[in-house]
Amino acid sequence: MLKEVNATRYITPLREGGSLPGLVEGDDFGTYVMKFTGAGQGRKTLVAEVVCGELARRLGFRVPRLVTLGLDPVLGLGEPDPQVQELLRSSGGANLGMEFLSGALGFDPLAFEVGSGEAGRIVWFDALVNNVDRSWRNPNLLRADGEVWLIDHGATLIWHHNWPGADASAARPYDASDHALARFRPDLAGAAADLAPRVTEDLLAEVTAEIPDEWLAGEPGFATPDELRRAYARPLLARAAGIHERITGIEEDK
Ligand SMILES: Nc1ncnc2c1ncn2[C@@H]1O[C@H](COP(=O)(O)OP(=O)(O)O)[C@@H](O)[C@H]1O
Ligand SMILES: [Mg+2]
Repeated sequence: MLKEVNATRYITPLREGGSLPGLVEGDDFGTYVMKFTGAGQGRKTLVAEVVCGELARRLGFRVPRLVTLGLDPVLGLGEPDPQVQELLRSSGGANLGMEFLSGALGFDPLAFEVGSGEAGRIVWFDALVNNVDRSWRNPNLLRADGEVWLIDHGATLIWHHNWPGADASAARPYDASDHALARFRPDLAGAAADLAPRVTEDLLAEVTAEIPDEWLAGEPGFATPDELRRAYARPLLARAAGIHERITGIEEDK
């Protein structure tokens, strides 16, 4: 399970993204980007953040540390912005916190260079989790300490919105033509050879164990949170084996 921290102060909304994440202080004195159960697609977005973030971290990518952030809705009472107040009021309990990288810059694909090895690994990973939110318009990549960091994995794992059709949905290809790193000659075959064998049942069990029970309970068709954890692992295991053959929109060197 992720480390549990409590939110003690709401600092400011981060207006850049669509889901209105907020900057908050935790009772461990850390500063976190907080994503709310009461926002848009709710807790499934947070589950996707945990599955993808913790999987990416274990595959060697840089991902800000994730925690659960307990929220007492009274924190919203003093908020002047009604939209923020409503979000805090509807998000009592465990929310997601991502360590705030102060001084990080948004990644600009025209201003930074990325090697074909790293570009290949990131595109391959996004294909694995079906990330539709890493376009050149909206890369959801940060630059800190001279390195690329991955953020914002809420719009991934599309199959978890319709479990009965999950296997069919996970069998579909991935269109990378709009990907933020498409122009860096991503080495997809190299990435697949390196990463695919590391996406094992054991690794996925470790990753899905990080999801708080609270965000898994009560899903129709699943008796227990652990049953749903196994459903999260299954399409990823299947996709890891062959997804690099089904990535479209990238010209590969022959
Ligand atoms: N861990 C972080 N450290 C620093 N800035 C961040 C972090 N996470 C998000 N941000 C900033 O907040 C913005 C919105 O966060 P993001 O996770 O992309 O949410 P949204 O779902 O709203 O797009 C990002 O584009 C980035 O500028
Ligand atoms: Mg974003």
